[in-house]
Amino acid sequence: MKVLIVGSGGREHAIAASVAKSAKVEKIYCAPGNAGIGQLAECVSIGAMEFDKLVAFAKEKAIDFVIVGMDDPLVGGLVDAMEAEGIRTFGPRKNAAILEGSKAFSKDLMKKYNIPTAAYETFDDADAAIAYLKEKAEFPIVLKADGLALGKGVLICNSLAEALEGVATIMQDKKFGDAGNRMVIEEFMTGREVSVLSFVDGKTIRIMTSAQDHKRAQDGDQGLNTGGMGTFSPSPFYTKEVDEFCHQYIYQATVDAMAAEGRPFKGVIFFGLMLTPKGPRVLEYNARFGDPEAQVVLPRMKNDIIEVMEACVDGTLDRIDLQFEDNAAVCVVLASAGYPVSYEKGFVIEGLDRFDREEGYYCFHAGTKLTDKGIVTNGGRVLGVTAKGKDLKEARANAYAATEWVSFANKYMRHDIGKAIDEA
Ligand code: AMP
Ligand code: GLY
Repeated sequence: MKVLIVGSGGREHAIAASVAKSAKVEKIYCAPGNAGIGQLAECVSIGAMEFDKLVAFAKEKAIDFVIVGMDDPLVGGLVDAMEAEGIRTFGPRKNAAILEGSKAFSKDLMKKYNIPTAAYETFDDADAAIAYLKEKAEFPIVLKADGLALGKGVLICNSLAEALEGVATIMQDKKFGDAGNRMVIEEFMTGREVSVLSFVDGKTIRIMTSAQDHKRAQDGDQGLNTGGMGTFSPSPFYTKEVDEFCHQYIYQATVDAMAAEGRPFKGVIFFGLMLTPKGPRVLEYNARFGDPEAQVVLPRMKNDIIEVMEACVDGTLDRIDLQFEDNAAVCVVLASAGYPVSYEKGFVIEGLDRFDREEGYYCFHAGTKLTDKGIVTNGGRVLGVTAKGKDLKEARANAYAATEWVSFANKYMRHDIGKAIDEA
């Protein structure tokens, strides 16, 4: 098979690494890809939102299977565009990707189908939101821009003053663009967060292993929200009891709800869960693998990823027995100092080749570029260093040891990825 992967981050590198292991695959293309993906695939410089060019490329190269890794093209309808030309594509169609594309949609879906989540109200105009905050709100409270906002459209407000400022940021100043045309205001919940990824074929859902992300930029969960500074898998807090609850009230219920709405979901549903004192609640849905969750989940998956993805497209996932290694993995993101605000790029990265020689270690590229000087930094999140171990503690020690193998001028990382393991 000839496979085209759409995206350019660490997640797409992790997907490409799994695809490269498939016995069914003879050639991988990636649009636009990065320097690391370029070692496994032929990268083509077409942007993920250039649908016409992507479709034309897939036809020209007689691509057998397309995998869309990123949220924007999914929400924008790339899967529909490929399917219209008869190209088999992994990922939700536009009418199902709305599960991630609109928080108001996903909250309404959960309410209608009794899927446990935080209480909320939706607002189309700022005045109504302000009136609600003044009359009814209890603080802290959570404000969410409706649409995609690079994971940054959520504001936790501790007082009325902060919340009013938040409404101005989202709905009036339009800091997140059109994503802020609508807003969800929801109850603040407390508890540990868990990321659960799943494969879905429209009817059947198969849960992958659990993971936990670290969203803040600095140690001790301080600083700004980022795309994710590191992950571990499995989460020791995702107990058998939690798993049973989620199977009973959340996973299949979500898949059935989407089907009942005439929006059958095929692809990956990422359940962002909070384990509250009242039980697990859905914080958010994503319509794709997490980044950097994929970097700890996929290396532990035993199945041929293409077989699983084809089963999702074909509606035969019920025949797949999804299996994960009985071990653990930790990913530490190496970022450019200053991320997520401002940072320099273009620094040469040394030491990458060691990862080719060490079993159980991976260096997934996120923001890198191949130049005549060699591979250089080209983004805020630069690399995701993943290591496996027999348990979480060993995986964490291995991952941190491996972060020392690579160097670049403004290398920055958190030093407490997986600290929660010690509290389990
Ligand atoms: P989201 O993009 O919806 O996952 O939100 C980003 C982050 O904001 C989550 O990972 C949580 O840490 C936090 N968050 C979102 N919704 C809530 C909530 N209702 N209560 C507490 N924290 C929240
Ligand atoms: N790591 C969180 C996300 O991919 O949305």
